[in-house]
Amino acid sequence: MARHLITSAIPYINGIKHLGNLVGSQLPADLYARYLRQRGHEVLFLCATDEHGTPAELAAAKAGKPVTEFCAEMHAVQAGIAEGFRLSFDHFGRSSSPQNHALTQHFAGRLADQGMIREVSEKQVYSNADGRFLPDRYIEGTCPNCGYDKARGDQCENCTKQLDPTDLINPRSAISGSTDLEVRETKHLYLMQSGMRGQLNDWIDSKADWPILTTSIARKWLNDGDGLQDRGITRDLDWGIPVRRGSEDWPGMEGKVFYVWFDAPIEYIACAGEWVEAGKGTDWERWWRTDKGADDVRYTQFMGKDNVPFHTLSFPATILGSGEPWKLVDYIKSFNYLNYDGGQFSTSQGRGVFMDQALEILGADYWRWWLLSHAPETSDAEFTWENFQADVNKDLADILGNFVSRVTKFCRSKFGEAVPAEGSFGPEEEALIETLTPRIRAYEAHMEAMEVRKSANELRAIWTIGNEYLQSVAPWSVFKEDPDRAAAQIRLALNLIRVYAVLSKPFIPDAAASMLASMKTTDDSWPDDVPAALTALPAGHVFEVPEVLFAKITDDEREDWQARFSGVRD
Ligand code: 2FM
Ligand code: ZN
Repeated sequence: MARHLITSAIPYINGIKHLGNLVGSQLPADLYARYLRQRGHEVLFLCATDEHGTPAELAAAKAGKPVTEFCAEMHAVQAGIAEGFRLSFDHFGRSSSPQNHALTQHFAGRLADQGMIREVSEKQVYSNADGRFLPDRYIEGTCPNCGYDKARGDQCENCTKQLDPTDLINPRSAISGSTDLEVRETKHLYLMQSGMRGQLNDWIDSKADWPILTTSIARKWLNDGDGLQDRGITRDLDWGIPVRRGSEDWPGMEGKVFYVWFDAPIEYIACAGEWVEAGKGTDWERWWRTDKGADDVRYTQFMGKDNVPFHTLSFPATILGSGEPWKLVDYIKSFNYLNYDGGQFSTSQGRGVFMDQALEILGADYWRWWLLSHAPETSDAEFTWENFQADVNKDLADILGNFVSRVTKFCRSKFGEAVPAEGSFGPEEEALIETLTPRIRAYEAHMEAMEVRKSANELRAIWTIGNEYLQSVAPWSVFKEDPDRAAAQIRLALNLIRVYAVLSKPFIPDAAASMLASMKTTDDSWPDDVPAALTALPAGHVFEVPEVLFAKITDDEREDWQARFSGVRD
């Protein structure tokens, strides 16, 4: 048994995430957390809302609410949706928490003590039309690196390059579109991360087992001359964590706040403190301080590829630069993008299916299964309604659902709703066990390696084995000649339903729970010993035929949804 700390990139507070975001961070993180818990490991799975920055301010203003009230409401909304998707966070925190305020100010103070912070008088873009300094991401223009004409002042969405607003060609205010911008003088704190290139390089080099997607993005920005420039960690804004040096005032920094990307990853740590304060745990430092027991914790982060530079460069620079024994990430699992019906999912343009909308039309398991089994691991993937309908109907209804329904209904009609006692296993059953065992071991290996698609493929293959077995032994025919033999076959098949429920739980927790409930068992122990697991439900054990596990998606439904989600969300 090991201890696993798992975090998912924390979603911005100002909008609801789309399915592409979900499959790139929270969902695979949940899959992994659920699997490890089932295997008996101690897991702390944390996520939170990322509440600071101008997007939150602007969204609150649009909603006509004070920003604190807006964030509190949106946090509750996002927590509800997370629950709807069965995301099993041990705590869903808030980056605006008192814990994160204190910890962010602490890190800034430590970094200053370590000589890692310098004060810079800089010129910043002020928008006369908007009457305010424009944060980097609210200046749009053409990317000097790739020519994308909607690049933001902090990062180009197209090529992932981290930018400064003054790098942009033809800049304009993203709030008003105004080009009446002027540059004013203001003072900011800079994190001197450029001096850490060697250290970060060595660290990335030591991660030979990381996904290539993660290390290639990290290396690209490390080796690209300006990828690891010193970066401003403060902003001229009202909403955020006030700039303080630990618990002291920071002369000259009055009225300024920390940059949202400085405080957001620190929330991964602060969230553990919130988890303790919520009464769900007792000792958060045991997870985060290597001098307090976190040495034996394995820490895994999940995120989309656009988040990789911040997690491989800036956040490690904060941790290492503090000179304190904080836990560094052990493994970063990153994802490419999921596209939507011939284009991109887009939050800003409201294109695609968003998490709340998805749950309005189908239960979580349909989405979980399809998204995870198409996780964009080695390349971008694409969601189309045709594909979604075909795969869900085949995998969940025809393969898994049909197996459960055939077995339970046949048993009820011939032997009643209890596991039949007659007959014994023969060569077909031995063969089934022999095929199943290495498949289950392969599934475990893929799950451990966070190979999401391979895990889904293996699980599907395991379900298929049951159907093929049933098809080949045909208990409905055997029953006429040799009812005892049919009884043994059905006894095995009923036990397979329990095993399938256990194995499938990380992917489709609701269906797994229904399967266990219909088998009237609470035994969800992992099939370490496959032959033993296939006799866990003894002769005479009572069950009931479940409701339909997965209804098929009809052509009408598909067309209806396709039309409904073809436009943009307002
Ligand atoms: O991409 C996003 O939604 C960001 N809010 C992720 C932040 S992850 C972290 F650093 F906290
Ligand atoms: Zn670019």
